[in-house]
Parts: sequence; C-alpha cells; structure tokens
Amino acid sequence: MKELNIGLCGLGTVGSGVFDVLSSNSRIMFEKSLCEINIVHIATRSDNHKCDVGDVQYSKDVFQVAKDPNVDLVVELIGGTDVAFELVMLAISNKKHVVTANKALIAESGSIILEAARNANVNVAFEASVGGGIPVLKSIREGLVANKINWLAGIINGTTNFILSEMSIKKTAFGVVLTEAQSKGYAEADPTFDVEGVDAAQKLAILASLSFGIPLSVSEFFVEGVTNILLEDITFAKELGFTVKHIGICRETNGSLEARVHPALIPYSSLLAHVNGVSNAVMVNSDAADTTLFYGPGAGSKATASSVIADIIDVAKAPESPCFSSLGYPIDRLKRKDIINIEDIDCGFYIRFIARDKAGVLSELTTTMAEASVSIESIIQRDHASKIDHVNVVIQTNKIKYSALDPVLKKIKKLENVLDDIVLIRVENLDQ
Ligand code: HSE
Repeated sequence: MKELNIGLCGLGTVGSGVFDVLSSNSRIMFEKSLCEINIVHIATRSDNHKCDVGDVQYSKDVFQVAKDPNVDLVVELIGGTDVAFELVMLAISNKKHVVTANKALIAESGSIILEAARNANVNVAFEASVGGGIPVLKSIREGLVANKINWLAGIINGTTNFILSEMSIKKTAFGVVLTEAQSKGYAEADPTFDVEGVDAAQKLAILASLSFGIPLSVSEFFVEGVTNILLEDITFAKELGFTVKHIGICRETNGSLEARVHPALIPYSSLLAHVNGVSNAVMVNSDAADTTLFYGPGAGSKATASSVIADIIDVAKAPESPCFSSLGYPIDRLKRKDIINIEDIDCGFYIRFIARDKAGVLSELTTTMAEASVSIESIIQRDHASKIDHVNVVIQTNKIKYSALDPVLKKIKKLENVLDDIVLIRVENLDQ
C-alpha cells in the first residue's frame, strides 16, 4: 500500500469537488490503486468555501501548504496566474509534487514550471486543465503514444458551445443566451476570456504541446471569439448542412503547424457537430489509431475533480519514478515549429452580405468571384427580413487561402449594389 499526503489550495467549485469525491470514493479508489490519499492541509483565501473541512489543518495563507513538511503533493485550485505561479514554484522548490487544473497558468508559464519540476525531480500534472472530466491529455500522452498525431480539432470551451447550441436550438440571439448562461452559472460574470476565445486558445496550447512536441505558448495562435456570430448565420449554415461551432484546430503540414481558435461551420456528418451544450469534445487524427474522439463534461465540480484526482493517484502510484512529463515529450526535447499564418491556410468560407434585389446583381457577384478563381460550392439568395428590395446573399466557397479571397471580398464591397459589412466564417470539413 502507498500513502500520499496532499495539501489542497482552493475550495471553490473544483476544490470542493475534489474534497467531496476524495471523501465519498476513497474506498473504490483504494481498491483500484492500493493508494491511500490523505488530505492533511487545506488553504483558502476566502472564508466563503463550500465544505466542512473537519479537523484537517486549515490556513488562510496558501503558501503555508507549500511549506508544510507533511505535504507530499500540492493541489493548486486557486486559479489566476500570479499567486498560483508563486505557489506552484514554491511547492516545487520544496520538492512537492503539484497537481493543477489551471490552464492559464500552464499555457502561460508551463515551460518554466515543468523545467523547475524536472530539476527538482517532482511531478506536475494538469489533466483537469483541458476538457474538465474528459481524460483527454492522458489519452493522447499514453493511449496514443505509439502514434504520430496528424491533427486535432476540439470544442474546448463549454460556455461558447452552450451559447452557440442554444442560439441554434432556441433560435435566440447571442446576448439573450449569454445572459441565460450567466444566470445558470455556465458563463462567468465577466465572460470575456470564454467568448473571445482566450480560454480555448490556452487549452489548445496544452493540446498542441502534448500532441506535436512544441513549447507551451499561445502567442502565435490565431484567436477569434464568437461575439460576432448572428442568429441568421446559424440559420443559413443549417440550410447548407452545417452547424456553427467554436473550435480549436491544430494540424501539422510539412513540419509546420496550423494553430487556430475560431468559429467554424462544421458539417452535420461530423461527430463534432453533435456536441451540444456545455459538453466538450476533442477529435484526434493519428497515423495508427486513425480518428479518435474524446467527449464529455468540459467543466463542473465533480467532473473536473475526477481528473484532478486521477493525477493525484498517478503520482501516488509512482512518486519515486523519475519525473514524467505531463506533456508526453520530455520538457527538454520540445521544439518550436513554424505556425502557419492564418491567411495562408486553405479552407472553405461562408460569406454573407446584403445586396439590392435587382436583375444582374447575382451574376455581377459570381463573375467577380470567377474572375479571381474563387470556386463556389453553394449559393443561397433570400429576401432580407427587414430591408425591402434587398436580399441576403450567402456563398459557400471551396477551399481557398484567405490571402487569395481577401482581394475579391474588397472588390465585392465596392460593388454599387452590395451593402453593409461582409460576414465571413470558416468552413471546416475535419474528418471528411
Ligand atoms: N470556462 C471554461 C469553459 C470552463 O467554459 O469551458 C473551465 O475550463
């Protein structure tokens, strides 16, 4: 039997889930792992926590946990990147293992933290940082270790997935659904990081490092959120056989990487198109296993706790082993790869604009596209709901680089009969 003493920092949504699941499932965890996990110290910066910590040592200063000689492993669940970074670095310098659910911390400072962990010969694990309760990092790192990963694509932010799903199902505008998401506790009071794609980009950075052996960083990723997605575009996308999802994609081509987070039209025939609500899913295409899909709850107290505890038990089983890298690739073997500029990536485009309903307008538009060799896959023209004598023109292109499409869009904008801004959303066929 092995025993591990842990110090739990943070008793918010995830921390209280860890406390509860460790208590309620201690027997089954012991039967499976033959490891006894003892919570010996808890620290929270606020009194407003959700658990009765009983007679476990309690501090209001999280650094006390990292200094406690009885603690073998620090569970960092306080969030943020400043105090959390100091806490993790202190824990490592005191030769304690670390488990965290903090994707911002790992995406921003993971390289420094993992290097320090390697030097101190301790483990830093962060399964819960991506996909909440889905064991996706372990699956890629261990289950797919035999494979060269070709690409991965994921719905990795539950808030935006809830918003887009509700807009589609209930035919409700973005602002209304966002308010509903906030009242249900799915979206933060300040939802900026979720709706602007920052949260998804941080998760993609972790997935990309794990899958392609690149250093952790989001700095060169293309990041676009969902705030400009209109209900009418979701409706037109449906008519074309697509659903609008916010996705993160990473694909290796000739040694360079696409790394991007943005809304995209996904065909109904793709499994990812059917991932709704706050659920997350990551599809991974690799050379031996082919396409695998990891689906489940992307957040939530007990679901995220499940991943945190899996990391704790991994460390408990092999605390003496040489430092494993939670990135799969040894930290000193990570190599930078060129990130392909978004303008140079081939993909289909959904384009919508409003034009005057006059003879010859459509032919003028299609001629402009044909002259620039933009190949059209589908076209829809519908009367505009509120502008009399105007139509919505929706065009789905075949694959083209944005750098080739942009001059055509500029020409279209200048046409006398075209009004307003042009809506542009990428089309991703993924596994097709
Ligand atoms: N804010 C995240 C999301 C949950 O909406 O998916 C935690 O990663």
